[in-house]
Amino acid sequence: MSMSAPPRVVIECVRGDIAVQPDVDAVVCAANPHLTTGAGVAGAIHRAAGPGLYREAAPLAPVRTGDAVITGAHGLPNRHVIHTVGPVYGRDEPAAGLLASCCRRCLELADQARLESVAFPAISTGVYGYPVAEAARVSLATVLELAPGLHHVRRVRFVLWSEEDRKVFSRALEERGTGVGHEAARRDPESG
Ligand code: APR
Repeated sequence: MSMSAPPRVVIECVRGDIAVQPDVDAVVCAANPHLTTGAGVAGAIHRAAGPGLYREAAPLAPVRTGDAVITGAHGLPNRHVIHTVGPVYGRDEPAAGLLASCCRRCLELADQARLESVAFPAISTGVYGYPVAEAARVSLATVLELAPGLHHVRRVRFVLWSEEDRKVFSRALEERGTGVGHEAARRDPESG
């Protein structure tokens, strides 16, 4: 690679728990507009962070679908939590545009905070019902599109709860290919 090549953003797809990602600066919470705890990702994040997270986040609510806000990470092993509200599939339209907006706003906030790394869950694919394969395509396309313009973020990790979802995300990433100011890296969490 030549010296003048743009810095690359590494994208990883791993299976794991978003609340146990100690080597990233920020984790993204798949939130509701009121930023209260919930099931899935929000439950795991708020449980691990403790009540201080909601106390800090509550004054920032309501958050519009497709938007995001950033707080401290409290009891989590990260510096920040970025709370984003994904679309409820079949209700909030345009679904792909809103999901892309979530990813974009999270990356913007991470970059503004000068963070080097951020971990995303599969936003909207649980309680909010977004089909995983479609969500993977939209989320990855958005990260790949924005990667060349990021000043600080150099690592984006998608943390998938099931091995099946990890494969879907990995395949979607492979389909996009590599080499446009980004680099794809996959890691098997079980191999360390
Ligand atoms: N780590 C990573 N991924 C997880 C975890 C976890 N600990 N727990 C669940 N997931 C996966 C789910 O399997 C799903 O694929 O994250 C994806 C997103 O699921 P949800 O957390 O249900 O998020 P979402 O679909 O965006 O719904 C948001 O759920 O918890 C409530 O308050 C929240 O109302 C909001 C809604």
